[in-house]
Amino acid sequence: MIKFEYNNSSIDDRMIFDLDEKVKECHKWIEENKEKEDEFLGWVDLPVNYDKEEFRRIKKAAKKIQKDSDYLIVIGIGGSYLGARAVIEAIKGCFDSMIPCDERKTPKIIYAGNNLSPNYLHDLLELIAEKDVSINVISKSGTTTEPAIAFRILREAIETKYGVDEAKKRIYVTTDKNKGALKSLATEEKYETFVIPDNVGGRFSVLTAVGLLPIAASGINIDMLIKGATDARDKYSDQDVKFNDCYKYAVIRNLLYNSGKRIEILANYEPSLHYITEWWKQLYGESEGKDEKGIFPAGVDFTTDLHSMGQYIQDGNRNLIETVICIDESKESIILAEDKENIDGLNYLAGKDLDYINKKAMEGTIEAHVNGNVPNMKITIEELDEENLGHLIYFFEKACAISGLILGVNPFNQPGVEEYKKNMFRLLEKPGYDK
Ligand code: PA5
Repeated sequence: MIKFEYNNSSIDDRMIFDLDEKVKECHKWIEENKEKEDEFLGWVDLPVNYDKEEFRRIKKAAKKIQKDSDYLIVIGIGGSYLGARAVIEAIKGCFDSMIPCDERKTPKIIYAGNNLSPNYLHDLLELIAEKDVSINVISKSGTTTEPAIAFRILREAIETKYGVDEAKKRIYVTTDKNKGALKSLATEEKYETFVIPDNVGGRFSVLTAVGLLPIAASGINIDMLIKGATDARDKYSDQDVKFNDCYKYAVIRNLLYNSGKRIEILANYEPSLHYITEWWKQLYGESEGKDEKGIFPAGVDFTTDLHSMGQYIQDGNRNLIETVICIDESKESIILAEDKENIDGLNYLAGKDLDYINKKAMEGTIEAHVNGNVPNMKITIEELDEENLGHLIYFFEKACAISGLILGVNPFNQPGVEEYKKNMFRLLEKPGYDK
């Protein structure tokens, strides 16, 4: 469950309810078009309409990977890896991948194909040289350069290691049902293949096989993730903004944008949420940043970044909004002990839980930022588990769609992403891209 608070946002209910008709119009458009193949609204009912047979196959493949692999390499970029990484790191914590292979029941999940750095890939190849690995290559278009290059190199590495036939059993492809180079390769080589539905765009795809296979392989309960998303789908189905917190978040963002707030910072006080923020940044940035409009989504990990970005947030250009993700109940408890000498002067905190101190830092920071004219919204989830994360994911997806529609952009395309590719291909002298 999520608690959404906006009493520090400078926006009141009357201002929100003034947009009631607009919200209803956006809601209606989603409802009327969600079954159309070409509207990229497949994510709306995905928590109940997913392919159950494929879901079983995902679990089976995850079990096999757990049995025969020390590492699962997830090859993908943007929406084809951020969701999985966000959920895995949020649940497994910051140090999971440091636990040695012989002390773990599940493979380490590592990522490739999200950059073009030779150093990164070289180090990754060294890391896995003596280990058992599987690969999940994920690309909806099947033609994206970064994952395609990484896959070519890593496929060759595991074919050399295991031989072509065994390597085939360690490669899992997630791509379009029919088209793209990756689909052709998967068909040709008979790799086990999972489908990204036509009507689900990359950044909305975490609850398809794109996210679910790596998440399940890491040992996370995907049934509970879907359950959380299903609950959220019910909860945020009311067309009336008065009863729909998800729509309130969308409306407040737009009202603040129209009042000159151009940057939204998503802040967390839990380091393992770093990639939730990265996923959120892509979701909102690619969905809304177009036609010379849109809030720029930024992220901070607090309290860490209070010592780097805190100054700007408190005192810099007043074009910021801050949205805080708060975890109500910390998984672990650490109580600060009394110290006889008290040279560090911390005895006033003796007997206090670190989570209590973290929460006071959060409350103090919100108060300071609000006083510094940074409107604040707060999203509280009960605890950091699969169910709550599923709920949070759906909350942000639905809010993003409504927010983009209110803004007057198409939240489901990304025409701007093609520009760098055209230049890069021309410079690389790719056939068809003239000098
Ligand atoms: O959200 C999106 O559509 C993009 O970020 C894509 O996920 C990203 O560009 C990767 O594309 P593909 O899955 O086609 O390789």
